[in-house]
Amino acid sequence: MREATPLCDRLGIPYPLFQAPMAGVATPELAAAVGQAGGLGGLGLGATAPEHWAALLARYQALCSAPLHLNFFCHAPPSTDPNRDQAWLSACAPLFEALGAAVPPTLSPPYEPFSALEDLEAPLKSLRPGVVSFHFGLPRPDQMDTLRRLGQRLLVSVTNLDDARVAEAAGVDGLIVQGREAGGHHSVFSGQAEGSVHSTEAFLRALRPQTGLPLVAAGGVMTGQALRKLLDAGADAVQLGTAFLLCPEASTPPAQRARLQRAKGEKTVLYRGFSGSPARGLANRLFHHLAGACPAEVPPYPLPYDLSKRLAAAAPAGALEDLSVCWAGEGFEALRELPAATLVRALLEEARLSQGKRIGVHDA
Ligand SMILES: Cc1cc2nc3c(=O)[nH]c(=O)nc-3n(C[C@H](O)[C@H](O)[C@H](O)COP(=O)(O)O)c2cc1C
Repeated sequence: MREATPLCDRLGIPYPLFQAPMAGVATPELAAAVGQAGGLGGLGLGATAPEHWAALLARYQALCSAPLHLNFFCHAPPSTDPNRDQAWLSACAPLFEALGAAVPPTLSPPYEPFSALEDLEAPLKSLRPGVVSFHFGLPRPDQMDTLRRLGQRLLVSVTNLDDARVAEAAGVDGLIVQGREAGGHHSVFSGQAEGSVHSTEAFLRALRPQTGLPLVAAGGVMTGQALRKLLDAGADAVQLGTAFLLCPEASTPPAQRARLQRAKGEKTVLYRGFSGSPARGLANRLFHHLAGACPAEVPPYPLPYDLSKRLAAAAPAGALEDLSVCWAGEGFEALRELPAATLVRALLEEARLSQGKRIGVHDA
């Protein structure tokens, strides 16, 4: 059963193209360029303290009046286990010692889950109607109520049918259907699973008959042809992350840009040890060390991520490609180094959406 009104019409955006709200990489300038070109720009606030949100929103709103897609992390607060955590720290110690850097004495979360936040109204009061999505789970019901009062449509990324059912039962307005190809973290609710098992298209086709919610497909889409294929398979919109990493408006760190530009022919890996939750990125020395030396029991997200971030902070510029995470989806070799608006226009053209055709139209 389909909702009568197409998702993008309801959101008030001309084209069914979402730029993924990527924490640390998506800037207000990137989101605004996408919004001005007719897509939905996104900002990932999962790793940003609430006192900085208003300034980011103001930067976006100064540039663009189109709706915005914000994203937050709803992982469970990580349990600590001194033996487990010390075993992880000891296995990572040689990486720090090789840099002459001190090994952190404990693992600690680099940021709080969204569900720990008490006051949402104050940091988000300037928000205009748009989209808020969640990664790694759902927020508290009262937080969902507050966001709805602020005019937000609520989406959640899911990687399997069970999590999709949980999300629908919680009353979200749509699902981001994240396939195995997706770059960055896979939104597994338990945090300990192995990531999405289905390809984006297979997952979309499996989910489509089971729900009337709008579905946004995400994972491995680098071209307009791939975007079109997912629309034809029943997606109401398609979300692209990796495709935007080389845009000048993105704050992709220089070492990761260099790596992505050069890494033709390399494979991406879906691995839990970078952060404690499965994420897809390029294999490098950090990956090979963690995968070879670390215990099978990975501390929960985001405890190991703190260590990965500290290692990158201690590394000299020349070692960063080897020692920092470089998230990327499958098919990243096709990504283009273009200003975001030019990239969006190219994607729309390739998807045969540039003539003002609106999407989300499916047979009932
Ligand atoms: C560098 C990077 C950072 C990401 N950060 C987030 C994030 O903060 N929140 C989120 O919901 N998804 C995040 N994602 C995942 C995207 O939402 C999306 O699922 C994914 O990019 C789709 O796959 P693709 O990268 O192959 O296009 C990130 C992806 C990348 C590549």
